[in-house]
Formats: sequence, structure tokens, C-alpha cells
Amino acid sequence: MKEFQPSDAIKRLPDQFFATLVNKLNTYQQKGHDLINLGQGNPDQPTPDHIVKSLQKAAENPINHKYPPFQGFDHLKEAVATFYKREYDVDIDPSSEVSILFGSKAGLVELNQCFLNPGDIALVPDPGYPDYWSGVALAEGVMEPMPLREENGFLPDYNEIDPDVLAKAKLLFLNYPNNPTGAVANPEFFEETIQLANQNDFCVVHDFAYGAIGFDGQKPLSFLQMPGAKDVGVEIYTMSKTYNMAGWRIAFAVGNKSVVKALDVIQDHYYCSLFGAVQDAAATALLDSQQCVEDLRAAYEQRRNLLEEGLKDAGYETTPCKGSFFMWLKAPEGFTSESFADALLKETGLFVAPGIGFGTYGESYVRIGLNNSEEKLKDAISRFKQFKSNH
Ligand SMILES: Cc1ncc(COP(=O)(O)O)c(C=O)c1O
Repeated sequence: MKEFQPSDAIKRLPDQFFATLVNKLNTYQQKGHDLINLGQGNPDQPTPDHIVKSLQKAAENPINHKYPPFQGFDHLKEAVATFYKREYDVDIDPSSEVSILFGSKAGLVELNQCFLNPGDIALVPDPGYPDYWSGVALAEGVMEPMPLREENGFLPDYNEIDPDVLAKAKLLFLNYPNNPTGAVANPEFFEETIQLANQNDFCVVHDFAYGAIGFDGQKPLSFLQMPGAKDVGVEIYTMSKTYNMAGWRIAFAVGNKSVVKALDVIQDHYYCSLFGAVQDAAATALLDSQQCVEDLRAAYEQRRNLLEEGLKDAGYETTPCKGSFFMWLKAPEGFTSESFADALLKETGLFVAPGIGFGTYGESYVRIGLNNSEEKLKDAISRFKQFKSNH
């Protein structure tokens, strides 16, 4: 059998960090270990019933058995506009400022293909969601990491970036509430971002995957709430986390018209939009009662409180988790992020994500997901305690 050589673009792709992580987890599970998976960002609860029912009904509608319009249904784009107005008091033109995506992962990769020529710079957070790197590599762009340091509240310090790099940048990726650090943004930071983007003519991509998950009475800021945001960028909003719809693969890019247009163009070549019933159910989720979202947010906050208190009690150094469903934990003295994650797995069956997988500045941390029941988290805390007393 011939072995065909993949293209240079495929060869440029970094190892998919989460795929490697999941393989490791599966190997341990197959050996019969009693594991608690705190390493992945997969919502643990089902999609709310009224959304599932909406899909079931829509699946019976013959309109949805045909090809949907290339760029998705207008009624869904209108629902997105209603959602942004209701949640953030942001005005969105549904016909020109919304692009429907096959999950935000796909959109985040496509944006690089839309705006980077070979050698163009994309500024990415470090630590950050690894799929930003994949898109930059596919487009033959150059990735410029922006360190997220604890002393800066895990916000990038733009003064650290070489002005020549800023001048050459075409894209800047941000993500607040942040994966993996649990940090949130403030209006001053977004204002500074908009000013910088205007000065340097780059496009801001704010990944708002955890937009619904803010703690301590603070609703996370949408980038689009800031004056001038639409002039310089887009926000990517996924249904995966807000409505526990990770398996449904649906998200939106909202904001700057030229960016929305470019995404629509590239998607015209890849797809013919999503299954219409998924679009109908997404509109139901956005327009119906948001009680399910508040219940979910409150459940994550309770889990955050439980874990934060338990870990502090056990003598670990946690960083404040103000949003998202991740805690960013300092590895104890003498451990790297990987040696700590490995030792936790071997000695206690706790599976966490080593910070180095999110970038160089993740090195001395591990990421813990809040996607487990309180009962499981209590078990995890006692295993963390056991680990601490053994070291
Ligand atoms: C920061 C961030 N962006 C995007 C995604 C991808 O979400 P989606 O399910 O919409 O592809 C995730 C998923 O874990 C994420 O953590």
C-alpha cells in the first residue's frame, strides 16, 4: 500500500494537546484505575430539555431535510441579535453582523485562513486555548505569544510587546472569562485593546466561550459592549458551554462586518451551513427562559467555592477563579506542571491538565475543571489532601 505524504500545512500542525491528553486518560482507564477526570473542559450536564424537544420537533419538519441556506437561517441570526440586545444591550444587525459557525473551534481556525498571509503575525495568549495555534500554523502565520502573568490578573501587558511586532500583527486573540486561568477582563483593558487595534490596524478576536459563567455577582463583559469594539473586531460566542450543547457544534461570530463577510465566504466553500434543526434549537435556547443558564452558572459557582476552600485547606496555592469552569492551581514546590500532573494521576487517580500544554507561561500550573458533581469534587479534594500529606 502506498503511503501518501501529507501537505506542508498538515505537517505544520502542532500535536493536538487534548487528543494526547485523552489518549493518556483512556490508557489509564482501560487498566481499571479509579480515576476522577478533572482534565477536560467537557460540560458534564445534559442539554436542557426544552432545547432537546425543540430539536426533536424541528427534525420532523421537512424544510430541515433540505439544504439550509448557505449562510444559515435568518431567524437564527435575528435570535442572536435579540440575545445580544437582551444580555448586553448591544445592537447587532442580523443580516451583516452575525456569522453562524460549526462550533467556535472551527471559526477560530477559519479566521486565520481569512486574514493571515504567510509570515503574518497573530498575537495569542500564553497560556491559552491551544486551537488558536492550529489555525495560525495552517495559515502559515507566525504566532507571537502574549504572556499572561498572575501579577497582571492574567491580562496581557501590551507594553511588553515589541512595537514592530504590533505593527505587523493582523490578528489578536483574547479569551475572557479565561481558559485556563479563570481570569476575567475589565473595561479599561478592553478600551486599551481597542485603542491598540486602531493604532496598529489588527483585528481583535474575543473568544467569549465562557461568557455566561461569571462568579461573585459579576456578569462577564462582552467585548462588544465597549464603544468602538465593532470597528476593530468580533466576538465568538459558542452554545457549547452556556447551554451544555458541546456535542451540537454551533457558535456565532458577531461584530465587524468585514470579518463576518470573510467567514461567510470561507464557509460557503467548506459547508452548506448546519442542520436546520440544530439552528432551530439554538434559536430556542437563545430566546426562551434563561433560567437553565442561571442554574448552571450557580452550580459552577458552588463547585468553585467547594474546590477553592478544599484546596486551600489542604495547603495548595490557588489563583482566584472569577469565571469559566476552570481553576488554575500552582504546582507545589519541586514539581513542574507535567511532573505534578503525572504524580497526581499515578498516586491518586486524579487527572488534571498540565499547564505547559497551554503555553510556556503555564509551566508551573495545572488546570482543574469544575465539570464534576460536588460528590466527585469532594472525593477529589480528599485525594489532593492525601497527595499533599505524602509530599
Ligand atoms: C476558550 C475556548 N474557546 C473555544 C472552545 C471551543 O468551543 P466549541 O465547542 O464552540 O468548539 C473551547 C472549548 O473548550 C474553549 O475552552
